Amino acid sequence: MGPAAQARALLGLLLVAAAAASPENFLRLPSSAPRQLAPRFPRSDAVDLIRALNLHPADASPRRPSAGDAAAPAGTLVERPLRLASLADGGGALARRWGTSATAPGTTASPTPTTQGCSTSSSSRGGARRIPVVIWLTGGPGCSSELALFYENGPFHIADNMSLVWNDFGWDQASNLIYVDQPTGTGFSYSSDSRDTRHNEASISDDLYAFLQAFFTEHPTYAKNDFYITGESYAGHYIPAFASRVHQGNKNNEGIHINLKGFAIGNGLTDPAIQYKAYPDYALDMGLITKAQYNKISKIVPTCEFAVKLCGTSGTVSCLAAYVVCNTIFGSIRTIIGSKNYYDIRKPCVGSLCYDFSNLEKFLNLKSVRESLGVGDIEFVSCSPTVYQAMLLDWMRNLEVGIPDLLESDIKVLIYAGEYDLICNWLGNSRWVNSMEWSGKEAFVSSSEKPFTVDGKEAGVLKSHGPLSFLKVHDAGHMVPMDQPKAALEMLKRWTSGNLSDPSSKLDFTM
Ligand SMILES: *[C@@H]1O[C@H](CO)[C@@H](O)[C@H](O)[C@H]1NC(C)=O
Ligand SMILES: *[C@@H]1O[C@H](CO)[C@@H](O)[C@H](O)[C@H]1NC(C)=O
Repeated sequence: MGPAAQARALLGLLLVAAAAASPENFLRLPSSAPRQLAPRFPRSDAVDLIRALNLHPADASPRRPSAGDAAAPAGTLVERPLRLASLADGGGALARRWGTSATAPGTTASPTPTTQGCSTSSSSRGGARRIPVVIWLTGGPGCSSELALFYENGPFHIADNMSLVWNDFGWDQASNLIYVDQPTGTGFSYSSDSRDTRHNEASISDDLYAFLQAFFTEHPTYAKNDFYITGESYAGHYIPAFASRVHQGNKNNEGIHINLKGFAIGNGLTDPAIQYKAYPDYALDMGLITKAQYNKISKIVPTCEFAVKLCGTSGTVSCLAAYVVCNTIFGSIRTIIGSKNYYDIRKPCVGSLCYDFSNLEKFLNLKSVRESLGVGDIEFVSCSPTVYQAMLLDWMRNLEVGIPDLLESDIKVLIYAGEYDLICNWLGNSRWVNSMEWSGKEAFVSSSEKPFTVDGKEAGVLKSHGPLSFLKVHDAGHMVPMDQPKAALEMLKRWTSGNLSDPSSKLDFTM
């Protein structure tokens, strides 16, 4: 097909695009829920601890969006302590974790007058050391970062009886950790103004930048710490845009200087042209499809590549066309693999979106938890189809283009991927990382792979040069901190301490 014919084929496809674009390819996942009640911890403990962390609980007014209360003024942060519903061991472990009292610090924060984010901020054991501030963004688009908080790298998991149990490998052990539900409309975040619906990375990164400014204004002491952006999946779009926004804000002296040291993307979607082309290759390599099926599916690749090229970094209808064309590649493979989990091809796909995360909605929709968070009557949904659909034009845009500039400014970039994920597979990620044009490209490409060792065992394979690292994580699917919690925490620790590729001898654990 010549370019003109391809363009005509794309225009034809646009007619079906709106109908075909249903949120079935969430790069993060939904579930469903009933309800149940749970006890609370005394507020005074929380107040003490929050005070120690400079989080001013006494000043925090609860936000009850549906109760008709006046909205907070523009740009202010509304914060409140979280009274944890219940901890399986009655709080003893919590006291050990934070050293002072049996209640965890946490806040809900309102980054703009009309949106609400959800975050927790905590100090780790030992407190005094200046551990970095780390923000985590889950993908979707439209999936709540609380998925990661409770199923991946947060301080606790939700037990079936709605108790919270400690995660021994929570990233709070090595950072002050912030989870934000975004774009607006995700998780408990909301707006009563449709103009707040986000359709592109520019507005999303402006919101996140505004949130950071509000957060560091309220907590200037944390602004001195190193700052890292992390996340997963569709955050492969959010994160490069957000990092560029922070970098630009710093260069222009727009507000508080944000001590951005690096960003990490786990199983992300960043460079769609390269990553969609990698689907058939990965599927063939992993024995998911036959050579004949591979040959057939590969015929769609040139049209997909052409469409993604038209979409570029800022296309509109061409991006929708590319979404439809390219997703027939993924869709064909998905049909062939049937009931296999496309986030982890070793596992069966259970439930509507492959994992059972129903405890999240069950827990966050408990009346006691909603009251504690101050979210009024908003019903928590893990992944919002509305947010997803609003972002369709953004899906196929190339977000790799902003990364070289950040590398040249010596901002660290870690791209990591669990090896059994199909939807944002390591192969496609490895390819875009290796083909990225920057001053260290040749040295990166020719650098040798090294084992990433945890507890004396190879937990992954690492390639690094200068500020750029690529880590393929063994025995993991799409959600690396869920599947390999210890390796993921080690990764964060070593990467933020600057010795990811060369851990000190102190790190030689007993075998
Ligand atoms: C709830 O489940 C957790 C984890 O399985 C357990 O440790 C705890 O004792 C249970 N709590 C109650 C009240 O049954
Ligand atoms: C290397 O990283 C570890 C964290 O895993 C840290 O404890 C150690 O001090 C670091 N070593 C150096 C030399 O930075």
